[in-house]
Amino acid sequence: MSMKVRKAVFPAAGLGTRFLPATKAQPKEMLPLVDKPIIQYGVEEAMASGCDQIIIVTGRGKQSIEDHFDVSYELEKMLEERKKTDLLKIVRSISDMIHVAYVRQKEALGLGHAVLMARELVGNEPFAVLLADDVIDARVPCLKQMVDVFNEMQCSVIATQVIEGKAISAYGVLDVKPVSSRFGERLVEIKNMVEKPRFEEAASNLAVVGRYILTPAVFDCLSNIQTGAGGELQLTDGMRLLLKKEKMYAYLYEGKRHDAGDKLGFLKATVEFALKREDLGKPFREYLKGLKL
Ligand code: UTP
Repeated sequence: MSMKVRKAVFPAAGLGTRFLPATKAQPKEMLPLVDKPIIQYGVEEAMASGCDQIIIVTGRGKQSIEDHFDVSYELEKMLEERKKTDLLKIVRSISDMIHVAYVRQKEALGLGHAVLMARELVGNEPFAVLLADDVIDARVPCLKQMVDVFNEMQCSVIATQVIEGKAISAYGVLDVKPVSSRFGERLVEIKNMVEKPRFEEAASNLAVVGRYILTPAVFDCLSNIQTGAGGELQLTDGMRLLLKKEKMYAYLYEGKRHDAGDKLGFLKATVEFALKREDLGKPFREYLKGLKL
C-alpha cells in the first residue's frame, strides 16, 4: 500500500539572529509579510498540499506562535459586538484552520535536532518539513509539487533551487545524477549532500531549500549524527546517513522563493506580496513609482 504525507513539521525554535533586534523578544516566524505572519504562509501551503496535521517545534519566547493559531476569545467577542464581520472571519479562519500540535526544543542545537524533537508526534510515517522563513510563491504550492513526486517515487524528496556563484556556500549543496521519470529534468537522484561547502568544493549549483519530504528512517539517522557545521546538529548530516539506506530525490520546484529570514529578502518579499494584493497593489504601485530612486 502506498504511503501518504499527512503531517507537516515546522521547526521554529531557532534564535533568528539575522533579524535582530526584531527577533529579540518576538519569533521570526511571526514577522508579518504585509499582514500575515510568515509561518501562516507555510501552514496554508502544507494544508493546500494535503497535510492535515501540523507540528510546530518551538522553544523559549515562542508563545505568540501558539497564541496565533489558538482561539482568541476576547478579540472575537469584541469584533462580534462591534459588528466587524470581515475581521472576525479572518481571525476565526486562523484558529479554525487545522489541528496544531507543539513540541519543545529546549535548546537551539540545530535544525537536525529540532526535527528529531518531532519524532514521537510523527511516528512511523513519511512527513514534510517546512522552514517558515523560506516563503515560496508558486502557482501550484511547492510542497504539493513535491507530494506528487513522493506519491509516485515513495522515497524522500528535497526541494532544490539553482544558486549561481559564491552564494551557494550558504546552503546545503547536492551532488546529483539524472533519473528517468515523468517529471523530466526537474527530478534528479541525490548522490551526496554537504552543508555549507566552500565555493571551490561545491559539487553543483543545486542548493537545498526549506521544503523536505522525509521517510521516518531519518529519525534513527538524526539520533546517530554528531554536531557538524556551526556546532549544530545538521539536518543535512542526518539526510546524508539516510542516503546510505534509501534512495532520495531532489526536485527543482516551479516558483519563486523569498528568504524572509534575511532582512533584504524580507523587504523584497514584502514589496512583491504587497504589489500582488487586490486591496493594496494599485496604491502601493503608485507610491513606489513616485519615489525618486
Ligand atoms: P535558520 O538558521 O534559518 O534559523 O534555521 P535561525 O537559527 O533561527 O536564524 P539565524 O540564522 O540565527 O538568523 C532554519 C530553521 O530551523 C529552525 C529555525 O527556527 C528556522 O525555522 N531551527 C534552527 C530550530 O528550530 N532549532 C534550531 O536549533 C535551529
